[in-house]
Amino acid sequence: MAAVGRFPAHARSVRETEAIPLTDPAYQQCISPACGAKYGIDEVRVACSRCGDLLDVAYDWNRLSVPSALSELQQAWARRDDPHCFSGVWRFHRLLPFVPLEQCVTVGEGQTLLLPSEGVARYVGSKPGRFYLQYEGMNPSGSFKDNGMSAAFSHARFVGASRAACASTGNTSASLALYCSVTKLMRAVIFVGSGKIAYGKLSQALDYGALTVQIAGDFDDAMARVKEVSQQLGIYLVNSVNPFRLEGQKTIMYRVLEALRWEVPDWIVVPGGNLGNSSAFGKAFDELLRLGLIDRMPRLAIINAAGANTLSELVQRRKLCWNRGKPPLEIACRYYDEMDAEGRRASTIASAIEINRPVNLNKCIRALEICSGVVREVSDQEILDAKAQVGAGGLGCEPASAASVAGARKLVAEGVIGRDDRVVCILTGHQLKDPNATVAYHTTDQKLFNDVLGSRGVSRASFANRAVSVGNRYDEIAQAIELYG
Ligand code: F0G
Repeated sequence: MAAVGRFPAHARSVRETEAIPLTDPAYQQCISPACGAKYGIDEVRVACSRCGDLLDVAYDWNRLSVPSALSELQQAWARRDDPHCFSGVWRFHRLLPFVPLEQCVTVGEGQTLLLPSEGVARYVGSKPGRFYLQYEGMNPSGSFKDNGMSAAFSHARFVGASRAACASTGNTSASLALYCSVTKLMRAVIFVGSGKIAYGKLSQALDYGALTVQIAGDFDDAMARVKEVSQQLGIYLVNSVNPFRLEGQKTIMYRVLEALRWEVPDWIVVPGGNLGNSSAFGKAFDELLRLGLIDRMPRLAIINAAGANTLSELVQRRKLCWNRGKPPLEIACRYYDEMDAEGRRASTIASAIEINRPVNLNKCIRALEICSGVVREVSDQEILDAKAQVGAGGLGCEPASAASVAGARKLVAEGVIGRDDRVVCILTGHQLKDPNATVAYHTTDQKLFNDVLGSRGVSRASFANRAVSVGNRYDEIAQAIELYG
């Protein structure tokens, strides 16, 4: 159902909008080609009011100042003293020009790194020099969400919202809470499943002063409730059903291209939860190709946790596909009904992606078609082993992020990703987000290991770096250093 919030400034009602021709070169459009309904850029919606499908932010590029080459965008670097040029999102404003640059909100997001990693390349099976990690955990709130939040927040300010809400497995809420506390432009209301989010993330929301509502349920319950509450109370919703969020997340791909000197990699590998990133990446590359700014598409690999494998189940096993805009969505409905009938809920150590009903499913299957994508699922054991490899080889990441590396390894073993292919794995969240999972993996305490990981089917920690226990005596310490150092 369509959600039209009640907003003061220039937000308009549906009836008004239908009568008004869209004069702005940026607008919102239903993703279903059969519907294609258009809405103004100043409307607050999370779905098409005609058919209920998701919305895109769309542009009439002929009326906008499009760069003639991507390298033109580098000029912003020379003006880093301007916060919009410093921002790793807004220095690409010409590729997401839905509100004027002066009105865009920034807290210094998007200062992230693409690094080659020889150690992880070896683990994955890629040739050295062909495998890269994109560290989105370096964002101000420690996850990729800040890319999208800066965009949704800018739109929320544009329409005059005073409160913003989200349901979250932790990172969206941390990001929203941070933007609210730094800018003081809005108040944050966040919905989390009780006991479902990692402590690093919960601690951020609490510290930044967000109103934190813990729902007796999981993320999917929280998501359903926040949609209802935000619609009823006129609170601006910043989950990735908000199409402006995804505009910001396109810039992750622009930065990857920039770091590769504007060369398109062969593969982008990304964890799949609510499927916002994968949807945004597909849109980014589709637009760049249409604008003649890249000459070929990368392939997309989306990796589910086996305990939260809706996408993999629907695409790999039940053959759901975009089908050029006519997806057989009854496949998904049937699957959700089965899941409900059996009382099955998502369960994985990668709590960020512990999601049954990904809200961006339709956009994601479109991205899979655009980018000749593939979907795989990986076990919690594979996720934690990959995470340990990432940590040992560099800046580290949280469990969900490591699904991308575990998935890349699986795809190389299958021969789908070639050893020579240029591969970029997106590390979505910072290593410190979920210390419990990390400590439990490296621990010598069998009970802790069993409680946190054994209960999820993890049976070994092949890459553990265990602490060495010694007495408080010089000779014991010196001996330990000789032995293990
Ligand atoms: N990785 C991390 C660290 C995440 O926090 C999330 C999503 C994902 C991957 C999945 O990304 O939804 O674009 O497929 N976290 C959301 C949240 C759901 O509430 O923080 P996606």
